[in-house]
Amino acid sequence: MLDVALEAAARAGAFLRDGRPDDLGVAATKTSAVDVVTEMDIASEKLITDYLAERRPDDGVLGEEGAATEGSSGVQWVIDPIDGTVNYLYGRPEWSVSIAARKDGETVVGVVAAPMRGETYRAVLGEGAFVNDRPARARVAPPFGQALVGTGFGYLAERRARQAEVVGQLLPHVRDIRRGGSAAIDLCDVAVGRLNAYYERGLNPWDFAAGELIAREAGARTGGRPGQAPSGDLTVAAPPGLFEELQGRLDELGAWHD
Ligand code: IPD
Repeated sequence: MLDVALEAAARAGAFLRDGRPDDLGVAATKTSAVDVVTEMDIASEKLITDYLAERRPDDGVLGEEGAATEGSSGVQWVIDPIDGTVNYLYGRPEWSVSIAARKDGETVVGVVAAPMRGETYRAVLGEGAFVNDRPARARVAPPFGQALVGTGFGYLAERRARQAEVVGQLLPHVRDIRRGGSAAIDLCDVAVGRLNAYYERGLNPWDFAAGELIAREAGARTGGRPGQAPSGDLTVAAPPGLFEELQGRLDELGAWHD
């Protein structure tokens, strides 16, 4: 499954990097006027699902642009054909292809390809995380006030206003905040130590499935609200020590609700 995920992500990544039209525009909008889809999101999802159908015909798929099949094997592929579509639309480099395999509901393989960085992040459950062929390790937790924290914003106006309030309450207490624009890359940045921590409300499974496993296998803790798994309510990733403090503060700030 790892080989299949790596090959699918490499093919989609090369297609997106080399084939981006100069006049790329918005093909459709989804949950709001700023939640955009391009023709390349749709083509990338088709490329990935066609390849999976050939290599893993009995598996199910769940893709951001609508792919949804049940399958009969107990394996489900969770696909974000472009994570960071707005960056891709504007020709900004921080976008990725995210592919995870879940077996009986548990994520067992995660691959995030970031072609403009020349990096692919990968993990297999219980076998550690890698960036290209090097082991990936999250940083040791710094004191809260020295943490570089990544986050992101959803596409609904009310949710965004609330997310801005939460980030405004956090900013005075940390080293700084980053909004990269691809949740999958943000999670991998925790895995390789380019961020100390990351959190976001409102993610979909295709945004976080692969990156969450990669961050966890790199030594970070991941979760949602205290005692819960990462979900659309809240996804948090950070090394032990920092994780609990950030999760607690986010819970107090009500970062998990609109
Ligand atoms: C988005 C990105 C972004 C995050 C949004 C996601 P998309 O995914 O991951 O960083 O803040 O919540 O929806 O729409 O580009 O696949």
